[in-house]
Amino acid sequence: MVVSDPIPAEYSLDRDCTTLSRHVVQQLVKTGKAASLLAPEAQDISAIMGRIALAGKLVARRLSKAGLVENALGFTGDVNVQGESVKRMDLYANEVFISVFKQSGLVCRLASEEMEDPYYIPENCPIGRYTLLYDPIDGSSNVDINLNVGSIFSLRQQEGEDLDGKATDLLQSGHKQLGAGYILYGPSTILVYSVGDGVHSFILDPSLGEFILTEESIQIPPHGPVYSVNEGNFWQWEDSIRDYTRYVHRHEGYTARYSGALVGDIHRILMQGGVFLYPGTRQKPEGKLRLLYESAPLAFLIEQAGGRASTGTQRLMDVIPQALHQRTPLIIGSQEDVELVESFIQDHHRRQGAEQDG
Ligand code: AHG
Ligand code: MN
Ligand code: MN
Repeated sequence: MVVSDPIPAEYSLDRDCTTLSRHVVQQLVKTGKAASLLAPEAQDISAIMGRIALAGKLVARRLSKAGLVENALGFTGDVNVQGESVKRMDLYANEVFISVFKQSGLVCRLASEEMEDPYYIPENCPIGRYTLLYDPIDGSSNVDINLNVGSIFSLRQQEGEDLDGKATDLLQSGHKQLGAGYILYGPSTILVYSVGDGVHSFILDPSLGEFILTEESIQIPPHGPVYSVNEGNFWQWEDSIRDYTRYVHRHEGYTARYSGALVGDIHRILMQGGVFLYPGTRQKPEGKLRLLYESAPLAFLIEQAGGRASTGTQRLMDVIPQALHQRTPLIIGSQEDVELVESFIQDHHRRQGAEQDG
């Protein structure tokens, strides 16, 4: 007797088709952050991730036809709180995140690169005591030339009542993050996230409008060939960083990659190993990247994948910000490669100390 395959090949699925919302709930139960699949915290965080995914889909859709529609590309003419010229796409994506969370009952405050103060959604506050911190468009200099950009997000629980409306409870270390991730808008749209039990990636299937699980528990290689840094800043780095770059120039096995969009560079390093650096410069001693919605979420992810993230002298996750938009130097990626950069910095500081003593 011939036993026929229950699902004919033309109808079988390419993969298991785990959706993002299902995965988040499973993760929260696995980590013990939720007692059961139906526990309110599991439902809340899963719903928040669902809204972030919706924001990602809206941004991806706009990016895909930005050159064809009026007023999608170019600058608004305004300067943001960072002193940087705002692109129309920065503004659009910032508004998208706000609008997907309005009346959601999920998130009380949103803090972003594009807003000086957090945005409050008072009607959500009695029930949704979460804060979303985000960089709506990371790498916006790439927007007008159709190269990859990203969004970065970090989720924190509100602590205290925030009666003065200053959100000072956000000024705590990266360990307070409940979850973090990024969306990479490239040839496909990829969402990578962690809620504290590994790093998982999803690809947007445009025909379904769903993010589908592609890789679970991603581990960053302990060493990789890539070093990713803007070498145009060489003239204004301190000697340790100059010595490190001279080292990679003079040794076999290194290759430079720098896209101008942190999310893309980090995604490459997460998958293939290596190190990304944005050290302090003479003009910006704290570097360029913002702690709460750029460096800390990426540090959370990279550590979850077995990598390392540092300011050069301190574990990045331990840094306690003094201000919402604080910047920190960032050295992040494979364990061994980050340690190598740190060793140049430590040597330099040791020599400086010895010179001062002697
Ligand atoms: P943003 O577009 O959010 O301001 O971020 C840009 C960041 C980051 O994505 C990138 O790695 C870095 O700035 C590039 O800066 P430089 O042009 O100074 O290298
Ligand atoms: Mn950015
Ligand atoms: Mn940005």
